[in-house]
Amino acid sequence: MLSLWIFVIFTLSTMVVSDDGNRLSTFTSPEEIMNACMLGISHKTSPGPESELFDKCKPWKKRSCCTESIAKDIHVNKTWYKMDWDHCGKLSDKCRARFVQDLCFYECSPNVGPWLVKVDNMKIRKERFVNVPLCRNECDAWWEDCVDDLTCIENWARHFDWSSGIPQCPSNTQCRTFREVFKNSTNFCEKVWDHSWQVVEDTDPDGCFAMWWMEGAENPNYEIAYRKAQRLISSADSIVLCSSWNCFYLLFVCICSVFSYVWYL
Ligand SMILES: *[C@@H]1O[C@H](CO)[C@@H](O)[C@H](O)[C@H]1NC(C)=O
Ligand SMILES: *[C@@H]1O[C@H](CO)[C@@H](O)[C@H](O)[C@H]1NC(C)=O
Repeated sequence: MLSLWIFVIFTLSTMVVSDDGNRLSTFTSPEEIMNACMLGISHKTSPGPESELFDKCKPWKKRSCCTESIAKDIHVNKTWYKMDWDHCGKLSDKCRARFVQDLCFYECSPNVGPWLVKVDNMKIRKERFVNVPLCRNECDAWWEDCVDDLTCIENWARHFDWSSGIPQCPSNTQCRTFREVFKNSTNFCEKVWDHSWQVVEDTDPDGCFAMWWMEGAENPNYEIAYRKAQRLISSADSIVLCSSWNCFYLLFVCICSVFSYVWYL
């Protein structure tokens, strides 16, 4: 009787532990993960070819999560869902170009599946990506092109004052150079979009993402994402058997069974 009761608790707790509401935990193959576009209002539901993609979004045209018109808008709109890069005066052309490239990645990349997490209460998206591995050389180049530009806060995704409906510098801040605000490249790339990126060494055995590659060349990020998707699926198999809490219960059940067996003897 006791063992049955424990079994019920164990089963229920397994369900609670494995349901974190993330789509990722419902995927059963790496291919499924690789076929997911982020749930955002301008993203396609799954990646596919586009006949043409504008300028900096071109590399993704063989397989993309953005449409032709979104790719164009990225280059011509002054703001993006009200986000304003020029909150401390106009960014230099070279810095702006990096942010346009980053936005192409955000809207077009079909390789962020393994890093998607659910977000609540957002108008423009139901998911975001977190800790996508960005190669150090890519981050350093982005940083170099922006060090002398101006901003007032580190975390552009969270810390603007939106009370007037547009992003403004909070009253206790002032416009300073990126170098003064962020101090170094790693801190910049990781903080500016609230940890969407994680900077990793170019030599990292798991590989790292590029934000741009030669048009027509194979997307170098595909392989890295695919291997990550495979690792996620194989670790998900073992999570079902043994996440830390489940292990605790499993151990508990074992001990109890042994105990009751001994007791019956
Ligand atoms: C870009 O600009 C167009 C035309 O003004 C507008 O309809 C669209 O909503 C803008 N896109 C974003 C993401 O802000
Ligand atoms: C970069 O700057 C951050 C924030 O100031 C700091 O915590 C971190 O240690 C610095 N990293 C390096 C490598 O200097």
